[in-house]
Amino acid sequence: MILVTGASGALGKLVAGRLAGRDDLVAGSRSPEPSPAGPPVRRVDFDDPASLADVRGVPVGYRPSPLGAVWAALAAKGVPPYQVAHAVSMFANIGAGLLAGERTDLPVLLGVAPRPVRGLVADAVRAFA
Ligand SMILES: NC(=O)c1ccc[n+]([C@@H]2O[C@H](COP(=O)([O-])OP(=O)(O)OC[C@H]3O[C@@H](n4cnc5c(N)ncnc54)[C@H](OP(=O)(O)O)[C@@H]3O)[C@@H](O)[C@H]2O)c1
Repeated sequence: MILVTGASGALGKLVAGRLAGRDDLVAGSRSPEPSPAGPPVRRVDFDDPASLADVRGVPVGYRPSPLGAVWAALAAKGVPPYQVAHAVSMFANIGAGLLAGERTDLPVLLGVAPRPVRGLVADAVRAFA
């Protein structure tokens, strides 16, 4: 089975499209909608490991692990070295709370307050109307 998670998203759609036609393809979504033209869609929610266990038919759980052990495990699985470094760096940042997105340095870097994208789009549309 090839399980494409995030299949309703931008990247997942591309991946599922590349694999279209395979009869072992399964799409994952937190709110699965039947798709007559596409692969079967199963409920997958990373916040609910039981949903992954259900789809894969194997026990799935999360447990804390030292970064060195994660590094070794990914490398042992044949993950390319640059991806191991990237993943471990991301896990370290998540663990340290640095990717929580609760604050931004943009106003300091840009010298102006952030503006909602909607306003920018509206301005652009008005300019060309
Ligand atoms: N697009 C890019 O250029 C790009 C580049 C680098 C990295 N990334 C990363 O790649 C990932 C996917 O990007 P994207 O652009 O395809 O994002 P997206 O269009 O926002 O799609 C996100 C997908 O994640 C799924 N999802 C969200 N929460 C989930 C959860 N708790 N359990 C299972 N699935 C969940 C959603 O599926 P449902 O709502 O159907 O559950 C949705 O299909 C993101 O982490 C993004 O940061 C994207």
